[in-house]
Amino acid sequence: MDVREIRQQIPVCQRMVYLNTGWSGPSPVSVVDAIKRRLDVEMIGGPASPDVAESGREVRTTARQAVAGLLNASPDEVCLTKNTTDGLNMVMNGLSWQPGDEIVSCDLEHSSVLVPSYFKQLRNGAALKVVHLESNEPRENILAKLEDALTERTRLVFLSHIEYSSGLRQPVEEIRRITRDRGIMMLLDGAQTAGHIRLDMKQIDCDFYSIPGQKWLLGSEGVGALYIRREMIPQVEPIAVSGGAVLPHDLPDQFEPNTDTMDKFNVSSSSAALQAGLEEAIRFIQNVGVDVIEQRNLDLASSLKGALADIPGVSVLSPMERDISSGLVSFSIDGVDPAEVVSYLWAEHRIAARRVAYPPGVRASLHFFNTEEEVEKLAAAVRQRAERP
Ligand SMILES: Cc1ncc(COP(=O)(O)O)c(C=O)c1O
Repeated sequence: MDVREIRQQIPVCQRMVYLNTGWSGPSPVSVVDAIKRRLDVEMIGGPASPDVAESGREVRTTARQAVAGLLNASPDEVCLTKNTTDGLNMVMNGLSWQPGDEIVSCDLEHSSVLVPSYFKQLRNGAALKVVHLESNEPRENILAKLEDALTERTRLVFLSHIEYSSGLRQPVEEIRRITRDRGIMMLLDGAQTAGHIRLDMKQIDCDFYSIPGQKWLLGSEGVGALYIRREMIPQVEPIAVSGGAVLPHDLPDQFEPNTDTMDKFNVSSSSAALQAGLEEAIRFIQNVGVDVIEQRNLDLASSLKGALADIPGVSVLSPMERDISSGLVSFSIDGVDPAEVVSYLWAEHRIAARRVAYPPGVRASLHFFNTEEEVEKLAAAVRQRAERP
């Protein structure tokens, strides 16, 4: 990988130390060009002229194929969404719930996991069980704690594949092994994974997986995707419905629900420009290579964790073991509010990071375009702040 060359293609890299990909990744020029090109086609050719409308349908099809390729899934198991949370809500609200059905999750989770689960409790009488995990909980403990939480009434295990708070990578294949035989469904939030680690729906064998375009894929906001394992598609009802939710027909009295295909989730119009951007983002990431990216991100994260661990008064909150680590690194400085550290890094060093609420800390996202020099710069800035009286 030629990092210098890649950085030339991502304008943000020339302006700051960008360590906030876990919130929103900086797009390369080619992604924004793909979006602009499509907008130009619509502006000049007429958005619903026959040719442009047809090419818009093609964009939708090829973007869906690109997502399927990224996930090692079939295109008919994938639909385009607005973002990760949109896909998660489609599943949570589309499944039918009985009072007493249990949802198992954990306390490192993002609100996009916990809040939809809470609303199932509030509106449908489901019970949300939140398992306590340390931010660097060892793999065997995770499995033991989750297994302990499962009962005859557990219907769903709902977790992030990579936890946004500490970057802990959940052992999803092993978790699947303990849920599969009990007939428990598995919904994974892939907000922090797509474009970051290799994703293989066949290997993970989960039922549902939701991803965004705007984070590690470096696409734009406003477009993401949802995977549903083929056999599970009929179990998820579309909540927002329009033409795709009924089978082809001539007259309204011939309406019949479309239950078996992902087309039932297509609600009217969507932005072909953003979908073209997503497709280009996937191409950009795949050209670099997801496996190469995964290892490089782990190397950068490991350097940062090593450097931070050497600073008196600084605690690394992320796991140290490589197999449960990712490119997300969280840390805290004794006695200093994480929000203040984030402001300091930006104001004095032009380093963009973010605060995480639980456990309270500062989170740096290390993606392949970041460099060892940037890691050193962050560690030096943190040391400077930790030593300040
Ligand atoms: C684990 C997790 N889930 C969901 C989200 C929300 O993502 P989106 O804006 O794509 O819905 C985030 C964003 O930070 C996240 O980290």
